Amino acid sequence: MNPENNNTSPAILDRFGRAHTALRISVTDRCNIRCFYCMPDESIRFLPSREILSFEEITSLVGILAGMGIRKLRVTGGEPLVRSQLHKLIEKLVAIPGIVDVALTTNGILLEEQAQSLRDAGLHRLNISLDTLREEVFQRITRRSGLDRVLRGIERARQVGFDKIRLNAIAMSGLTETEVIPLAEFARQQGLELRFIEFMPLDAEQAWQPVKVLSGSDIRQMIEQRFGPLEPVESADPSQPARNFAYADGGGQVGLINPVTEPFCDACNRLRLTAEGKLRNCLFSTAEWDVRSLLRSGATTTEIDELVRECVAAKKRAHGINGEAFERPAKAMYQIGG
Ligand code: 5AD
Ligand code: SF4
Repeated sequence: MNPENNNTSPAILDRFGRAHTALRISVTDRCNIRCFYCMPDESIRFLPSREILSFEEITSLVGILAGMGIRKLRVTGGEPLVRSQLHKLIEKLVAIPGIVDVALTTNGILLEEQAQSLRDAGLHRLNISLDTLREEVFQRITRRSGLDRVLRGIERARQVGFDKIRLNAIAMSGLTETEVIPLAEFARQQGLELRFIEFMPLDAEQAWQPVKVLSGSDIRQMIEQRFGPLEPVESADPSQPARNFAYADGGGQVGLINPVTEPFCDACNRLRLTAEGKLRNCLFSTAEWDVRSLLRSGATTTEIDELVRECVAAKKRAHGINGEAFERPAKAMYQIGG
């Protein structure tokens, strides 16, 4: 089927004319590590399993959204690989008419075991979080051990032939400065694309402050000092949050995702679905739309279509992190989906 002609209803447009074609699906709020910029260390209350959308519920919702113009999916968490049999969900998602791209974001801890089954299920693209190459720093960040497992996961993912593997690193001042060059060297050696993501006010402990953000422009300077001038690369996809740069010596690319210092809301095409079946129109949304109740009460496609449009119609122009009136969402990253 031609994915371009699959729509059974008009595009999902917000008040600013942005068409929504991408969906991030969180499949769990659980995680096997405890990154301090995301989760609290203790007294976490995870969702009971009855509150989590089943694979059937997710698949049937995505089928409806694909009919409304959703084309790209990203599966996230919490840590998506702690959800049992995740490859079975991937298999269903890639088969939905209209869906042209399915990707996954993982912390890599369980990747060595699951890379092959995910690849066999039809997954082509992976983002793996890697903030450091030192176990001691890994433990400081994640309050757990296991960098060696992540590195073995990356290795296995390369072996099983993913088309594209990206490494995502947090950009936080007081933490990332010492990691930038070793991570860049590692990514260059491995032929992987590394991206730095500015620390956002989505940590459960609410310790975020503007001064704790290591800006993309600072990171660019560090990389240029070591590897020479970086050449900006125009992205074919304007909704892509990363600014990509090529190394002058042909050593591949590095990406900078600067949601704080250079917000990219203008080109946003993303909708989010939380593990408990709430739709969000933004990472920083303070409201959610309960699609699970509709799915569980046998609502019609039209009713779900209406809820999705209501959610997107309420989308703000921008997150406004830097503004006076900015209000943090009550949920943290692991409860929303990265
Ligand atoms: N700010 C920026 N990135 C974050 N992530 C988690 N919490 C934050 C935050 N507060 C990132 C992780 C991972 C992805 C799922 O989201 O580093 O790469
Ligand atoms: Fe887990 Fe990802 Fe949050 Fe780290 S950032 S605690 S890996 S959900």
